[in-house]
Amino acid sequence: MSEAYLSERIGTGIPGLDEMLRGGYFVGTANVVSGDSGTGKTIFGTQFIVEGAKKGENVMCIITSEESKSIVREMKTSFNWDLEEYVRQGKLTFVDITDPSLRLQKSVEIAPSELIKSFKKLVESKIEEVKPTRIFIDSIEALFLAIESNYKLRTLIDDVFSVFRKHQVTSVITVGSMYNLDNMVEYGADSVVKLGRIIAGNNLQRSIYIMKMRGSGTINEVRVLNISDNGMSVLAQSPYLE
Ligand SMILES: Nc1ncnc2c1ncn2[C@@H]1O[C@H](COP(=O)(O)OP(=O)(O)O)[C@@H](O)[C@H]1O
Ligand SMILES: [Mg+2]
Repeated sequence: MSEAYLSERIGTGIPGLDEMLRGGYFVGTANVVSGDSGTGKTIFGTQFIVEGAKKGENVMCIITSEESKSIVREMKTSFNWDLEEYVRQGKLTFVDITDPSLRLQKSVEIAPSELIKSFKKLVESKIEEVKPTRIFIDSIEALFLAIESNYKLRTLIDDVFSVFRKHQVTSVITVGSMYNLDNMVEYGADSVVKLGRIIAGNNLQRSIYIMKMRGSGTINEVRVLNISDNGMSVLAQSPYLE
């Protein structure tokens, strides 16, 4: 990878976040967004690819579970984002790995690591076909659930992330905390953004901070994450009450 590539950045599309990242994500990196249920991971990733589609880039969204299938409907009712329109325009490609025709679903005959290998192959061929600048995977844990050895898990996560680096695609990958896979996934990532909730007195606030960003300084503050009908933005203020 050349130095020029390493220093090239891409805007996240989330107002206030690029400032915290000192200019956005590095092109061709694997960026994890981690947080409990309902903290805004799906919104984050969708806003990231919508930003690309709006700019005329080709973008891709990989759906890995039944839960993330409702993304088109939810983003429409939440923010009036018309993902189907981007699909019609040829800007957005969905890859639904739960689709039986891809034969990627878990089955007793397929070893979990074989499943991940097939996933990697599928993603790689889709990248070559679509040539996206941005990929959003919602979420990664379904893929790695059945891997029992931590060592193997680490290797397989690195394997999957290396596909994005190899093809210079900037990816946002969500991971929840339910299955305790977040730690391992965070290890392999080039950057990690943590979303959460903070209860201060009687006040419930959404929060965001950058846990790590390889190769860059960041603003090391916990800030307020705001979600409104216009989408997500980061405010230059602390979620903790003074
Ligand atoms: N238009 C909106 N205005 C404010 N908050 C919203 C809006 N739409 C959705 N939300 C909030 O975002 C949450 C969902 O975020 P989501 O990205 O699906 O979380 P996660 O993927 O981490 O589970 C909802 O539970 C809701 O609280
Ligand atoms: Mg989600």
